[in-house]
Amino acid sequence: MAKGSSEVSRFDAKSTNRDDEVATTSGVLGLPLKEIPDIPLLTEHHGATVISVVNQKGGVGKTTTTINLGAALAELGRRVLLIDFDPQHSLSVGLGVSTRQLDGSIYNLMMDESTHIEDFLLKTSVPGMDMIPSHEDLAGAEGGLMNVIAREKVLKRILEPVLGDYDVILIDCQPSLGLLTVNALTASDGVIVPLECEYFALRGVALLADIIGKVQKNTNPDLKLTGILPTMFDRKTVHSREVLERILEAFPNHVFDTIIARTVRFPETTVAGEPITTYASSSSGASSYRRLARELISIGGTK
Ligand SMILES: Nc1ncnc2c1ncn2[C@@H]1O[C@H](COP(=O)(O)OP(=O)(O)OP(=O)(O)O)[C@@H](O)[C@H]1O
Ligand SMILES: [Mg+2]
Repeated sequence: MAKGSSEVSRFDAKSTNRDDEVATTSGVLGLPLKEIPDIPLLTEHHGATVISVVNQKGGVGKTTTTINLGAALAELGRRVLLIDFDPQHSLSVGLGVSTRQLDGSIYNLMMDESTHIEDFLLKTSVPGMDMIPSHEDLAGAEGGLMNVIAREKVLKRILEPVLGDYDVILIDCQPSLGLLTVNALTASDGVIVPLECEYFALRGVALLADIIGKVQKNTNPDLKLTGILPTMFDRKTVHSREVLERILEAFPNHVFDTIIARTVRFPETTVAGEPITTYASSSSGASSYRRLARELISIGGTK
């Protein structure tokens, strides 16, 4: 990536952040560059901000974002909980958890009111980051919840007992807008929408906005769109840049400045079963998610 002069001087300013390696919306589109400040450690804890990572399109980077944003927030001293809310359980796999060894998963919590979330928490390899795994059985949960009273609020009720134990809870949603995703949105303060910088990225976004609107109207009036995260950005192609321009046009006030570029390091981390922040700590992918974590906090998306 060509380094703008202000990006070089920012690096020279003794910052330990390697932001000069990170693709940014402002940098790519030639807008005034944005500085993301250093983030102080939290001195007080006021309960978790819950954020769903949602897009009904598959393979856009939801799970990768949940794992690596979570790990980067934990590096900033935040107490993080990740919820694998996808029957494909990619988040569990990406953190080295085999669903064969599990005593239970989010499925049991969703289907059995007598279960307690504390019994399902797992530690990850990242200090300060816990997770709740998923299981293929979760695919049957939408049908199983049909006759449950307040079926959109089941996940919200499940999370309540641990809200005081974490600063951030990130929910990795499956690529659908069904009842599980509505549960995630109902339990959340904010939504992050990863959008890949490919043609048709915006296709389906109207439907997603519609669901967010319905949740705001019916089950969670406080739900906010935290931000749109451009992912799979290819520095070499003009069309990635054009798509980014279109995303910014569609959401002028909601696009993260930090962009996640396409790199083979991310698929490698899934095989390794750990976040990129530990697997390839000095890679540009790790720097991107660290900058995203600082940006999220600096815009008030979480504490
Ligand atoms: N920035 C990136 N560059 C290259 N590959 C990436 C990047 N982000 C994610 N990937 C890879 O793309 C694939 C899909 O990513 P991921 O699983 O995060 O998407 P998803 O939106 O969660 O998918 P699904 O909808 O199936 O849950 C994975 O193999 C992942 O390793
Ligand atoms: Mg996923």
